[in-house]
Amino acid sequence: MTGMDEKPKKHEQFQTPKGVHDILPEDHEYHTFIKKVVRHRARQAGFRRISTPMFEFTEVFKRSIGDTSDIVTKEMYTFQDRKGRSLTLKPECTAGVVRAYIQNNMNQLPQPMMLYYYEPCFRYDRPQKGRYRQFWQFGFEILGESDPALDAQLIQMAFKICQDLGVDKLISLQINTIGTPEARKKYMQVLQDFYVGKERSLCEECKIRLKKNPMRLLDCKEEDCQILAGLAPVMRDYLDKESIEFHEEMKGYLDEIGIKYTENPKLVRGLDYYAKTVFEFWDKSEGAQNAIGGGGRYDGLMELMGGQPTPAVGFAAGVERIMANMKREKIRVPTKDDLHVFVAQLGKEAKRKCLPLIEQMRESGLKTMGAMGKGAINIQLKLADKFKAPFAVIIGITEVRENVAIIRDMKKGVQEKVAFEDVIDRLVELIGKKNLDKYSPGELLYS
Ligand code: HAM
Repeated sequence: MTGMDEKPKKHEQFQTPKGVHDILPEDHEYHTFIKKVVRHRARQAGFRRISTPMFEFTEVFKRSIGDTSDIVTKEMYTFQDRKGRSLTLKPECTAGVVRAYIQNNMNQLPQPMMLYYYEPCFRYDRPQKGRYRQFWQFGFEILGESDPALDAQLIQMAFKICQDLGVDKLISLQINTIGTPEARKKYMQVLQDFYVGKERSLCEECKIRLKKNPMRLLDCKEEDCQILAGLAPVMRDYLDKESIEFHEEMKGYLDEIGIKYTENPKLVRGLDYYAKTVFEFWDKSEGAQNAIGGGGRYDGLMELMGGQPTPAVGFAAGVERIMANMKREKIRVPTKDDLHVFVAQLGKEAKRKCLPLIEQMRESGLKTMGAMGKGAINIQLKLADKFKAPFAVIIGITEVRENVAIIRDMKKGVQEKVAFEDVIDRLVELIGKKNLDKYSPGELLYS
């Protein structure tokens, strides 16, 4: 017997690759709401939106995020295009924004340049709760000015957004300063000296970090590594005076605006471009594991990327992680997706009559679907129920002849006969003027 005699297998269903997922309509309600909140807070503070491409030359990320960072060594989606150039799907947005700032001569514009984004990012992380291979970030970057008051304002804005989204009680703000790169270099040497002879107690990752990026030893989650990190020399003792003063000033501003924070001398962040301020918003129940967002100052990055020396500070948050917290807190977001009316008809004549009516209903602000299919009226009404339409308009052969329509209250199960030309007025009355959807962005072009 050969394989030829076997019945052909049913085609396997396609699935999304591991770690990526569809955004279905229910989740889009959250995305829309979060985007609105971010946009509102951004506008209030003078930020304008930017989008950088989904992919950049690999070097853009390597140079900025750092050759030894986890993102660059393990998590980038890198591929070659047809001409053999190395490109990478963006694992975060700051590098692209800095590249765009330089490429578009944004230093010629009034400074600071205040930009925000809401973008998908890609990291080849091990998929697990709160960790995806495609995820969304919103974030803010302030480029062209160095002032601890800006760091404080940025943190305040991030916090306000968390408040707007109802998750502020679940998070704790961790702050630290990691000083200038020069001061850090000194400290890294001290750290390496401290770990001499202790390498065997470190996890495999930290053994590598010790050689390449010893600061990352401080925020390892492994128990033995944490114990050692607790005994290690404290970074603050080796930092430059200017960074310490900058930090103290920023804390003063945070106190002034009533933002509560925890000083965390072990907070170092996983990206190499930071200098001075670093901060993270931790999920109180999960600690450092699933930070909701993070950021800091990156004064040296612009120069490293080929631009003029330009101070900058920024922040980004993970949308999926915020959404998970909102759902855990049973926060429902307002949605405008609910229908007002379902139109059921019988016969071609009725369908013809329904189409202009539906058009007028929509123009009047009534969210309407229907005039489709050939099912009996009661089947169409069942559909109206399934779509959760509070009212149905029924037009059958008799109604066409009498020039009337039936309006049915789906919840109460009662119905009334209305002259065809009065249908819209009566529906508006029933739905209530304030509930109509009169939003029409296209009109703004002509007003
Ligand atoms: P980050 O800490 O790497 O910082 O990412 C910011 C946030 O993105 C994280 O706190 C987390 O909520 C979310 N995130 C990161 N990776 C994943 C993942 N695999 N799945 C789901 N969510 C994730 C940055 O990206 C910096 N660019 C932030 C910044 C802006 N610094 C200055 N300006």
